[in-house]
Amino acid sequence: MIRRMIVLGLGSLVLTAAGAAARAADLRAGEAIVQRTCYACHGLNGVSSMSLYPNLAGQKQAYLAAQLRAFRDGSRQNPIMTLIAAHLSAAQIKDVAAYFASLEPSGRATCIPRGAAGHHPPG
Ligand code: HEC
Repeated sequence: MIRRMIVLGLGSLVLTAAGAAARAADLRAGEAIVQRTCYACHGLNGVSSMSLYPNLAGQKQAYLAAQLRAFRDGSRQNPIMTLIAAHLSAAQIKDVAAYFASLEPSGRATCIPRGAAGHHPPG
């Protein structure tokens, strides 16, 4: 009986540690990152208005996070994204990837930040 309790106790310790490491993605924090930086090229709704900038809405979360890590560690090279990813922490990568993944993969580009005027011409 005591042995069983010890085993159960150890089990929940391991679960707690894993839970802390795998913090849930914060969609609101991800949205804030998009509204601050990414919207200019990838659109507020993850649909880009420029033909050279990829749509990210509805893309797989793990794929997006892997690409951002690859830009950050230099294994994927792009002059723009290398600079941008360099400023993202692991938690921010998780949040922004989850946010883009949560968006509808269709729709028209919206790249106008709240309270600002101006729009990229569709390219
Ligand atoms: C100044 C324009 C610009 C901004 C701002 C920008 N990106 Fe990008 N992004 C690009 C371009 C261009 C590419 C294509 C890179 C390539 O060809 O490898 C790209 C590619 C990506 C990719 C890879 C997509 C794929 O299909 O593999 C991800 C993920 C990404 N960006 C995330 C972000 C995030 C997150 C932000 C905001 C923190 C951001 N980008 C801000 C221009 C931008």
